[in-house]
Amino acid sequence: MSTPTLTNIAYYQSRIDQFLTQKLAEQVRNDQKLYEAMKYGLLIGGKRMRPYLAYITGEMLNLDANDIDVIAASIECIHAYSLLHDDLPAMDDDELRRGKPTCHIAFDEATAILAGDALQTLAFDILANQPLSEYANNKRLVLIQQLIKASGYQGMCGGQALDLAATNKTITLTELEAIHKLKTGALLQASILMVAECSPQISPQDTDNLTLFAQCIGLAYQVRDDIIDITSSEQELGKPAGSDLAANKSTYPALLGLQGAQQKAEHLYQQALQALANLPYNSDNLTNFANFIINRKS
Ligand code: IPE
Ligand code: IPE
Ligand code: MG
Ligand code: MG
Ligand code: MG
Repeated sequence: MSTPTLTNIAYYQSRIDQFLTQKLAEQVRNDQKLYEAMKYGLLIGGKRMRPYLAYITGEMLNLDANDIDVIAASIECIHAYSLLHDDLPAMDDDELRRGKPTCHIAFDEATAILAGDALQTLAFDILANQPLSEYANNKRLVLIQQLIKASGYQGMCGGQALDLAATNKTITLTELEAIHKLKTGALLQASILMVAECSPQISPQDTDNLTLFAQCIGLAYQVRDDIIDITSSEQELGKPAGSDLAANKSTYPALLGLQGAQQKAEHLYQQALQALANLPYNSDNLTNFANFIINRKS
C-alpha cells in the first residue's frame, strides 16, 4: 500500500521549526558547543509527527494554534532529547540519525548527554513560561503534569529502561506491548491528550475515545518502527537499518514475524478508527494520520 500524504504537513513542519528555532535563539548563550549540539538534536531533520498530531487535534477541536505551538514544542524537545540519549553507546549505540552522524559522533558523548538533558529542561521551560490563551493558561499545571508522566519513569524513560532490560532476552507479547506503550506510545498519546485538555467543549466520553485512539496509534507507531528497521533501507530511514536485529532487541517482528507484526499494526489501525467513529468531530486528518503511520517507510 502506498503511504498517504498528510494534509498541511509542510505548513506544520515549518511552523514548529520556526517556533523551536526562536526558542533556542532566545537562550542566553554560555557554552557554545552545548548550544550547537542542542540545535543539532532539535532542528536538523525529524518528521515532526508528534507536533503534527498535536496541531491536527487542535484543528479538529477548533483551538488556538498558538497554544498548540507550546504543547507541540515541549513534546518535540522531549522527543529530541530521547533520541540523543537512545543513540548513545550505552544505549542503542547508533551512529546515524536523520541521515547525519548522531549527536555523540558529531560532537562527543558528554556533549550529547548534556544536550539531551538541556533539551529536556527546555521542554519544561517552554511549557511553564510561554504565554497561553486564558483557558489553556488555567490548564498549565495539568499540562506540565501530563508531560512529566509521559516523559519520566512512568512513561518514556521507564519504557526505555524496560527495552534495555529486554535486550538479548525473549519476552512475552504482553511485556513487549507494555514496553512499546511506554517508550513511544506515551509521548504520542500526550500529543493528543494535552491538546484535548485545552478544549473547553470536550466531553468525558470524547476524551475516552481520543485516549483509546491515542493508545492504539502510539503503540502502532513503534510496531511500524520495528518493521521498517527490517524492511527499509538505511537511505530511506536516515538511520541504520537492521539495528534491532544486530542488537538482539525485543521487537514485534522478532516475536511475531514480519507478517504478524504488520497484522498487529493493521489491527491497531482498525481499533483506532473505531474510536474515532464515536467522536462528534471531523476526524479525517486523524484517520489519515493513523493510515500514514502504519504504512510509513521512514
Ligand atoms: C523514532 O521516532 C523513534 C521512535 C520513537 C519510534 P521518529 O520516527 O518520530 O523520529 P524522527 O523525529 O522523525 O526522526
Ligand atoms: C526509540 O525506539 C524510542 C525512544 C527514543 C524513546 P528505537 O530505539 O527503536 O528508535 P530508533 O529506531 O533508534 O529511532
Ligand atoms: Mg532504543
Ligand atoms: Mg534506537
Ligand atoms: Mg527503532
